[in-house]
Amino acid sequence: MNGKMKRIGVLTSGGDAPGMNAAVRAVVRTAIDNGLECIGIRRGWSGLINSDFVRLDSQSVSHIINKGGTILYTARSKEFLDREGRARAIATCKLLGLDGIVAIGGDGTFQGALALSRQVAESGQELSVVGIPATIDNDIGCSNYTIGFDTASNTAIECIDKLRDTMQSHERCSVVEVMGRRAGFLALYVGIAVGANAVLIPEREVDFQRDVVEKIQNLRLGGTTHFMIVVAEGAGSAVEIGKRIEEELGIVPRVTVLGHIQRGGAPTARDRETASRMGYEAVQCLLAGKGNRVIGTQEGGIVDMDMEEALAMTKNLQMYRYQVLEALTAKGK
Ligand code: F6P
Repeated sequence: MNGKMKRIGVLTSGGDAPGMNAAVRAVVRTAIDNGLECIGIRRGWSGLINSDFVRLDSQSVSHIINKGGTILYTARSKEFLDREGRARAIATCKLLGLDGIVAIGGDGTFQGALALSRQVAESGQELSVVGIPATIDNDIGCSNYTIGFDTASNTAIECIDKLRDTMQSHERCSVVEVMGRRAGFLALYVGIAVGANAVLIPEREVDFQRDVVEKIQNLRLGGTTHFMIVVAEGAGSAVEIGKRIEEELGIVPRVTVLGHIQRGGAPTARDRETASRMGYEAVQCLLAGKGNRVIGTQEGGIVDMDMEEALAMTKNLQMYRYQVLEALTAKGK
């Protein structure tokens, strides 16, 4: 493939994450800077199946580095899970004359990229796929960091700080649900940063008595009159947790589900800068003839890894962070 690279496609897929636009911009600008043409595939993998595309030039990615969401739109494609759907996507790549694809997204996007690259290899067609990790969940095994996590954390922190003000003045208990269907990275990080009294995450079995009831009881004994409980959506529903707190402790908590607000907004400096470097490196991989790679961060630096190996990697939530949270929570005595 090396030297033959002429035209590449870029897409965003799965749940959006602030900084995706900065990554798209970096891919487009780096491609153009190296004499490549760039095609934007709209609505993720489904755009590749349905020939839903737009030609991108340098100007078409102006003024997007500071914007949340994705100008390419995003979607989750059921059709792409089947060989038939992927065969249509491969045909679109051939029709468009694509030599490479940069796919920006989370775990589902990467699984799609891997399935596509395997099927491309079987078909004998030449097409390199490179993945860029972008999800507010920060749950991609091969990368310490995923685009969007910092912005989402800061959004959640800003909201919870505001809740804390009113909880404190009314002497109430707040239960806040943050995103994270399968991962508690966001909940735990945010919980430490807001000084939560308890954080419930999917990676640690919830013992309601130990993790919520006793904590609040101890805090009450020590004179605390307002409480902040942060729950990752994968660890339970904040509404249900609120009901149980009322039943067990006789206090009526106020429940807030932050929801999709966490996925929007202007990306932070960290997300813009990381996305820019990842986009740049993704195109460098394609230019160097390195196909089927995944970009990631390790020890702060940007690295690229073999896609098969990268997707086999797992990332454990550092329980050390949980210990920090526990140590810093006010005790009754
Ligand atoms: O982007 C990942 C994520 O935020 C998960 O934490 C969450 O469960 C999911 O997306 C919800 O996405 P949607 O409502 O778009 O299906």
